[in-house]
Amino acid sequence: MRFPARRLRRLRKSEGMRRLMNETLITREDLVYPILVQEGLDGRLPVGPMEGIYRISVDLLEDELGEAHDLGIRAVMLSGIPEHKDEVGTSAYAKDGIAQQAVAKARSCRSDMVIMADACLCQYTSTGHCGIYKDGTVDNDLSIPLLGKVAASLARAGVDVVSPSSMMDGQVTAVRAALDREGHQNVAIMAQSAKHMSALYSPFREAAHCTPQFEDRIEYQVPYTNPREAMAEVESDIEEGVDIIMIKPAMMYLDLVSEARRRFTTPVAAYNVSGEYALVRAAHSKGHIDGAKATMEILSCIKRAGADIIITYSAKEAAKMLP
Ligand code: PBG
Ligand code: ZN
Repeated sequence: MRFPARRLRRLRKSEGMRRLMNETLITREDLVYPILVQEGLDGRLPVGPMEGIYRISVDLLEDELGEAHDLGIRAVMLSGIPEHKDEVGTSAYAKDGIAQQAVAKARSCRSDMVIMADACLCQYTSTGHCGIYKDGTVDNDLSIPLLGKVAASLARAGVDVVSPSSMMDGQVTAVRAALDREGHQNVAIMAQSAKHMSALYSPFREAAHCTPQFEDRIEYQVPYTNPREAMAEVESDIEEGVDIIMIKPAMMYLDLVSEARRRFTTPVAAYNVSGEYALVRAAHSKGHIDGAKATMEILSCIKRAGADIIITYSAKEAAKMLP
């Protein structure tokens, strides 16, 4: 009797064989590095639970981009942290708002990188909600024109890709219309289409001062128990003309990354969020796991699931390790 008919270990017997058989390769070009830019800051401030990650002043952006570029990273996602908040998030769409300043600066110093920017209201509203709070709820239809204004102002500052993250219904339609009205036909929309109500955003919220001041985001973010609802979010963004869809968070949501990849032809991004980064850092610092190895495993598995683009705070670390 032949035993075993198939010996898969033959394919793993040497480094050369293993390389030949490799099915998933992440490249630096797959990665997007998120950068938090804070108004009124002098220098940089560490983000406590995220070792190696800082909020920076606009002045430091050129160096930060230069460092990422030297490592081979070609895309960044900018988020602003403003000094002033109000009920309607005025500084989110101000000409000299912090995100607009950051985008303009990034554009002027780097024509060779893709500049993306998060488009939301929660850092800018006094309520910390992603839209306008009125009569006991976040009012969807009052909020989407403001997201359009945010997107148009970022486009005027020179952004390549806007990433609406408020989970308002119709946000892609509103953003596309606001962009096109001003002739920004070539600014792409990467919607945070299936953004789940997750406990893993808290390091970002702490750093960006965007924690809701009352209630939470359960009325607008997707419940993590509902995969069909997540696909419906993706589908409706595609109907609204989105260019890139996103699943967020990434690590525990790879079934959705994979399903979106199979169902649709639109490019798929996965956002490896702040809490996911913090988990790895915390376990590494306690000596429980090897953070570098875990990071490569996580990013490779996100790619394996079908992500075309990975937004990750580990981008620089990964770029240093990649061959
Ligand atoms: C704001 C926003 C959040 C994140 C990105 N944009 C927080 C939230 O929705 O509460 C989270 C990103 C991260 O955790 O890395 N809409
Ligand atoms: Zn928000």
